Amino acid sequence: MKILLVAGARPNFMKVAPILHVLEEQQIDTVLVHTGQHYDEAMSDAFFRDLGIRDPDYSLGVGSASHALQTARMMESFEPILKREAPAWVVVVGDVNSTLAAALVACKLKEEVGCRIAHVEAGLRSHDWRMPEEVNRVLTDRLSDLLFTPSRDALPNLLAEGIPGERICFVGNVMIDSLMRNLPIARKGGILEELELVRDRYAVATLHRPGNVDDREDLVVALESLGRIAADIPLVLPLHPRTKASIARNGVHSLLEGLTVVEPLGYLDMLSLLDGAAAVLTDSGGIQEETSALGIPCVTLREDTERPITISEGTNRLAPWPLTSDGILDVFRNAMAEGRSGTGLIEGWDGRASERIVQALANGL
Ligand code: UD1
Repeated sequence: MKILLVAGARPNFMKVAPILHVLEEQQIDTVLVHTGQHYDEAMSDAFFRDLGIRDPDYSLGVGSASHALQTARMMESFEPILKREAPAWVVVVGDVNSTLAAALVACKLKEEVGCRIAHVEAGLRSHDWRMPEEVNRVLTDRLSDLLFTPSRDALPNLLAEGIPGERICFVGNVMIDSLMRNLPIARKGGILEELELVRDRYAVATLHRPGNVDDREDLVVALESLGRIAADIPLVLPLHPRTKASIARNGVHSLLEGLTVVEPLGYLDMLSLLDGAAAVLTDSGGIQEETSALGIPCVTLREDTERPITISEGTNRLAPWPLTSDGILDVFRNAMAEGRSGTGLIEGWDGRASERIVQALANGL
């Protein structure tokens, strides 16, 4: 059995790594494809290093472009590779453009190549069709033969869309495999000292959703709120390239005063920073999950979340919508007052999701 894994953007790497490790342990023939959606040292290479991911067999090097161009370039480059490798499974993870591009190519070549498609992190829904990730998720699930869900709430979403139940397999959250494996290593790192932070006495924010950062008005609300929070407690903002570009375009650099702004961090430094934080503000999907697993209060700067289990069973909450600086400050202070929780396990967030995934692939389920 040959398994082809596709990775492309930062949030893919911590999902691919544990699956790859189990495949390698079991000496299963693997092909790793990196689309190059993310390509900077900080957005890609650092993650390969931190997570011990081997060099890809194929690097498509597509880089940044409009959604259509980026997706089309990935599809064009991926098609001949899939034909050549003819794996039994094409495994795609998450909800980025690389995920959909690979699934679409594989679906059209299924008969010719004899492959099937497995989607890791299936069934999450924000029900917000304006989000490119929602489009990617829904379409990838529709194209897939085997849908690995990270939490029980994903099943009804898929059934409601007419996906046959026998294709759906609950395996738990593979990102938490990476977290559990790497937390002891991350804790030995020196990022807190480097940034002169004291455990439990700082906050972390991440901001990169187009809906929050592309337009000036939204960006100003978000950054002003962070500025007000930083008057209460030191606040670290690892700055995503999209956000950095928008700050420059909109001339709002002065709103970063008072914040500890750093370049995007590698996996281990980010994990260590989250683990030591008193509270976190984010619009990322993965960080909602990581903070829940770590027991750190999290405020999500979005209208809704495709990961409701992080609210019902984790440490997450949504900021009042539409976002205002008063609303964000208020919910952040409440989150801080609540403090850390014990890290009760969400079902299947136990560090063994990748084993269950490989088992199901091997069974040809
Ligand atoms: C993508 C994903 C998003 C994910 C995010 C994590 C889609 C539709 N979106 O959004 O779901 O949460 O990654 O980071 O797939 N850039 C660099 N260096 C890089 C990569 C990007 O400077 O290595 C800059 C480029 O200017 C690019 C911009 O960031 O135009 C946005 O990158 P892109 O991959 O298009 O989208 P993200 O916002 O990163």
